[in-house]
Amino acid sequence: MEETLVLIKPDGMANIEYILEILYKNGLKVDRFKVMEMDEELILEHYGHVADKPFFPRLKEFMMSAPIAAMVLTGENAVAKVREVIGCTNSLEAKEGTVRNLFGTDSTKNAIHASDSVENAQIEIDRFFNRENKKCK
Ligand code: PPS
Repeated sequence: MEETLVLIKPDGMANIEYILEILYKNGLKVDRFKVMEMDEELILEHYGHVADKPFFPRLKEFMMSAPIAAMVLTGENAVAKVREVIGCTNSLEAKEGTVRNLFGTDSTKNAIHASDSVENAQIEIDRFFNRENKKCK
């Protein structure tokens, strides 16, 4: 079994039950889940690799505009499976029936984020789920 990190973005929250149903039907199970708000520090860390891109200010504003849901999904080949099920970054180009095709609008408002590799999945799970625990010790 593999783990991956998924974020339901602000524009995906209204359809979270349908998104979870799609993921579940594809063999993915929710292991950990929380609704939260992203602050600037967390956004800069999570999206640091695109911080110099012209679209970054809009992405940051969007991700801070409303609560998101963070979750750890488990399943066989979970990282690749989730990426397949959600479709490509630009919702306008995402394959029919994928989460981004069904519930997103463009490349920023694309309903969902998912880790792009097994290595990044562990880093992102740690970022969203393990940090508070570490602080408590
Ligand atoms: S991806 O899908 O994870 O591989 O996306 P990535 O290339 O790493 O990009 C990170 C986030 O940047 C946003 N993005 C864009 N917004 C506007 N215009 C363009 N061209 C664009 N390209 C990328 C996108 O919302 C990605 O967020 P996530 O949360 O990963 O979907």
